[in-house]
Amino acid sequence: MREKTYLDNSSTTWPKPPGVAEAVSEYIRDVGCNLSRSGYGTTCVLNRKARSCREQLAELFNCPDLRQVVTTPSVTFALNTVIKGLLGPGDHALVSGMEHNAVTRPLFQLERQDVSFGFIPCDSTGRLDPGDIKALVRPNTRMVVTTHASNVCGTVLPIREVGRVCREEGLLYVVDSAQSAGVLPIDVQADCIDVLCFAGHKGLFGPPGIGGLILDEGLAARIEPLVVGGTGVESEQDAVPDALPMHFESGTPNLMGFYGLSTSLKWLKRQGTEKVHAREQGLYRRLLGGLQQIDGLRILGTQDAESSLCVLAIDVPGLDIGAVAYRLDSKYRIVTRCGLHCAPWANRSLGTFPIGTIRLSPGYFTKPREIDYALEALEESVAYARRRKLTR
Ligand SMILES: Cc1ncc(COP(=O)(O)O)c(C=O)c1O
Repeated sequence: MREKTYLDNSSTTWPKPPGVAEAVSEYIRDVGCNLSRSGYGTTCVLNRKARSCREQLAELFNCPDLRQVVTTPSVTFALNTVIKGLLGPGDHALVSGMEHNAVTRPLFQLERQDVSFGFIPCDSTGRLDPGDIKALVRPNTRMVVTTHASNVCGTVLPIREVGRVCREEGLLYVVDSAQSAGVLPIDVQADCIDVLCFAGHKGLFGPPGIGGLILDEGLAARIEPLVVGGTGVESEQDAVPDALPMHFESGTPNLMGFYGLSTSLKWLKRQGTEKVHAREQGLYRRLLGGLQQIDGLRILGTQDAESSLCVLAIDVPGLDIGAVAYRLDSKYRIVTRCGLHCAPWANRSLGTFPIGTIRLSPGYFTKPREIDYALEALEESVAYARRRKLTR
């Protein structure tokens, strides 16, 4: 059977860098104890690994204190923690027009508790103008949440400029870096970010099941954790400890995740985010150039490697894009993703709602010949769908 061509790195990066799988299995095979729960030797090894993982994350995002690095099961969990923890009845929030359901769904849930929110418009390429924000701020606006880069079409949002506007307006700024962390530079201080939410399994190249948030203790004290329980310390207290990161880390964390993520972060540091980004930009240009040669495609996003991550979404107007994506998989073993990509509001901004797009997201490990193969296969699959009249 032909090897799969994996073009779904926006969902989760694959393959992982050398050593990540081995680090995960090292925990299972050789370590096998819990964090902070006892004083025996392997616990100390594990505690050191967790600490080192936090140190690496703090360094990557220029966070001044490693205690501010909180791990969660996912970036979705992190976003729910801050959005639900910081907004209450009567409050208003603003989000970009390119958000994932991980941001909009918690806000729609909060609407039932008298929280309101509005969208900062994005144009049909996904671009946001920070100059639009001030006019949308109301007396009860507390928070702005934006993604750093769209998971639908790759468009990068100007987080530093948005952060500055938030500072001027006295608003909290929450950034969803699910797509950008590890690929673009992020500096929580210079970018004026109050809470940075990240995923471990995408551009940070770790295993799934570990993400997190970075925030200072003052802000953390205002947030009720979504989940409370055992923390391994201060067990005599009926309330969960206030100290970070424990405040948000009740229950056994993803211990294998610390091993895998710590290893991938070491690899990432050796490569450097600039090298990862530059390589992905090259792949983006190659893919874009080829897509532009195929008749009848609508290519979404900025179509410019400087303002986009390595994600290209396409529509084939008139045709059933599900059938095209199915052929890519069934005939060519090319893994793409088809539909709304959990971001209906981003698709509304792009004009692709409710059908969505076929998303091709190469990653650092994608080979140029895989891009060429995917382009040939896509051209044939579109022609096939046309011939067979596989219309919408
Ligand atoms: C921009 C963005 N935010 C949030 C998420 C949610 O990530 P997870 O499912 O890992 O929590 C994703 C996943 O694709 C994403 O792309």
